[in-house]
Amino acid sequence: METKVIKIQAENGVFSKAEEEALRLAGENLQQGGLVAFPTETVYGLGGDALNPASSRKIYAAKGRPSDNPLIVHISRLEDIYEIVDTVSEDAIKIAREFWPGPLTMILPKSAKVPYETTGGLDTVAVRMPSHPVARKLIEYGGGYIAAPSANISGKPSPTVAKYVIEDMDGKIDVIIDGGEVGIGLESTIIDLTVTPPEILRPGYITDKMLAEVLGQVDTDVTILHAESGQAPKAPGMKYRHYAPKGELTVVQGAPEAVAAYINSCTTADKQKGYKTGVIGTQEMANVYQADVIKVVGSRQDEESIGRHLYSFLREFDDEQVTRIYSESFASEGFGQAIMNRLLKAAGHNIVRLDAPEV
Ligand code: TXA
Ligand code: MG
Repeated sequence: METKVIKIQAENGVFSKAEEEALRLAGENLQQGGLVAFPTETVYGLGGDALNPASSRKIYAAKGRPSDNPLIVHISRLEDIYEIVDTVSEDAIKIAREFWPGPLTMILPKSAKVPYETTGGLDTVAVRMPSHPVARKLIEYGGGYIAAPSANISGKPSPTVAKYVIEDMDGKIDVIIDGGEVGIGLESTIIDLTVTPPEILRPGYITDKMLAEVLGQVDTDVTILHAESGQAPKAPGMKYRHYAPKGELTVVQGAPEAVAAYINSCTTADKQKGYKTGVIGTQEMANVYQADVIKVVGSRQDEESIGRHLYSFLREFDDEQVTRIYSESFASEGFGQAIMNRLLKAAGHNIVRLDAPEV
């Protein structure tokens, strides 16, 4: 299959005539059962008609994703939620008013309209209304209900630039829309509203605190906070090894100077063994590291910058064939919880704690 790549700039959310026409055609393609990758404010998505079982099957095939891992249905108007959800709770409307359009996904009971192919056999459906203007326009032209997992091959870091969508999806899907670099860089927060109290299944830019301010008590899936809990995560997709670079990634936690000293001793030893070494670090420590490739995620205080760069850096290490990667550890509250959740998964929970108390 030949994959068409189109560029949409949409300066300040305003589309040129040609861009509008290209999005209309891409939407038509979705309605006919095709697959179109597109930017959202979180990561690039791989879209198909959520109400067409054949489209969902094609999405699983293109990603090489197990079909028990449900897809998120993207909408562009709040009223459309009533078509795909059986009972829309008051809580759902409350947080929709507060955080939509934006990086928040709700789990709700599904209506009969949503095929089991889209929900991975579950009676619940994940719904999100993205804020990215290209995503919104494409959803409208695509019939209103677009299933879209992240546009990566299953197991790889989610794409935050079109280059990595092309790398993973070229030849497998109909259209790739290049809308430049995404803003947030980590996938949406997922909250399950079918349980009481509501429970966060995947941390993201919308934090537990922000949700609790609107909903009152909010729980967080224990597996997000404690990988060693021995329990299965409640979002099926969170159980898979994920976001992983090809090289071996180790997260090092402790005081900044101690972390840098530890990492430098590792990279020195690795180099002697012939490994190509890489470091993910903050601006404050950047010039202290010794490694073949050093990626600076931004200032330690600037979590948005860390979140935005993490996945593309993991991909770049692959491009540069780095075989041993070390990363600083980051604060694990607020948006930092999402950053650490993804980083630790990418590392297969391989973490060295320099400040751990002696036992
Ligand atoms: O930011 C995002 O959410 C991106 C963009 C493209 O919108 N999409 C995304 O989709 O991250 P995906 O498929 O890569 O991740 C969806 C996650 C998976 O972990 C899946 O198991 C979970 O959502 N999920 C979907 N439906 C669910 C359901 N009914 N119950 C529990 N978890 C569900
Ligand atoms: Mg994904």
